[in-house]
Amino acid sequence: MFQALSLSGDKPDQYAQLLEQARGLMHGERDRTANAANLSSLVFHSLPDLNWVGFYFFDGTELVVGPFQGHPACVRIALGRGVCGTAAATRQTQRVPDVDAFPGHIPCDSASRSELVVPLYAGDTLVGVFDLDSPRLDRFDEADQRGLEAIAQAFMESMGPD
Ligand code: SME
Repeated sequence: MFQALSLSGDKPDQYAQLLEQARGLMHGERDRTANAANLSSLVFHSLPDLNWVGFYFFDGTELVVGPFQGHPACVRIALGRGVCGTAAATRQTQRVPDVDAFPGHIPCDSASRSELVVPLYAGDTLVGVFDLDSPRLDRFDEADQRGLEAIAQAFMESMGPD
């Protein structure tokens, strides 16, 4: 049985511990859905002030919702639309302190106030995005961004080089 350890120390320390737990959860498993599901659960239950954590995967045309924790969400997002579509199209992590101030933000959960979306690329190939929503304004700082980008990277590595 998996046991989430409580995170201790400063934020970079906590993210180092969370990354280790994430790697442990995905160890020996290459299935994208399985790892995305377990990672969503791990992050959702380990970090404070989150109301949605999950994945959208690119189907060749648009982003389609994948495994997540939180309320039901929008199913399809076009590239370039919303925070997720912007992260996918620009290949840049989108850290949005106030979703109401982001032009084109797609509201899925009315509780969301800030959002962080990490694009997932295998080389030049778009795989999807890793999306986190918070009910707190300005929930994500640079340390959160770095920590969550490292977890997204570990997810990409879990699928192997193919
Ligand atoms: N807010 C996102 C949509 C996805 S949900 O937050 C789960 C966006 O603007 O792309």
